[in-house]
Amino acid sequence: MSALVAPSVLASDFANLQKEIEMINESQADYIHVDIMDGVFVPNISFGLPVTEAINRHAKKPLDVHLMIVNPDQYLSAFKNAGASVISVHLEACNHLHRTLQAIKELGCQAGVALNPHTSVELLKDVIKEIDMVIIMSVNPGFGGQKFIEQTYTKVRRLKEIIDEAGASTKIEIDGGVNLENAPKLVKAGADVLVAGSFVFNAKDPIATIAGLKKN
Ligand code: DX5
Ligand code: ZN
Repeated sequence: MSALVAPSVLASDFANLQKEIEMINESQADYIHVDIMDGVFVPNISFGLPVTEAINRHAKKPLDVHLMIVNPDQYLSAFKNAGASVISVHLEACNHLHRTLQAIKELGCQAGVALNPHTSVELLKDVIKEIDMVIIMSVNPGFGGQKFIEQTYTKVRRLKEIIDEAGASTKIEIDGGVNLENAPKLVKAGADVLVAGSFVFNAKDPIATIAGLKKN
């Protein structure tokens, strides 16, 4: 079984975005991970709708949009129109998660939920069948290039049990500090999709690095 890989453009060279997207198109990547930060939900601002649209104009892989924003409901259709295939909201930013997931699916997108490192996977039990993808944050969201949190493995194993017990087909995505050392352990624990930002874009050969991550 091979892992699905989602390079995060947050770590790419924004002055050469077209070239970076073309590199991802040529690679074995499965998605393009797009990190949206509002400076409120997380202590950083990345980019928003016009840049997502620009990425989508060149992308040949589905956009996996990770909304690190408050009031995500307000922007779901705008991100769908900007090209999102998967839209993930943070559980911590949603008062009515079930309703938000329905709204994402009504737009024709896959619905994802991201969990901060302190948020228990148990909170997803009653809604797991509605979720196409869970993002387990393996760093505190807001910045690329941070150190992987080791507790993540336990969370992945427990989430996998919850998914299997419910008979759901939810994918588990890991986001933050992913590299070739932790990738095999993550896949063994039950991860399906690996996000990698700095590990891919700081590599001498990003295409080979993506291929290496996929081999897990
Ligand atoms: C962090 C973002 C991540 C980030 C990962 O808030 O959600 O997607 O780009 O970057 P690395 O792989 O460098 O930890
Ligand atoms: Zn992300």
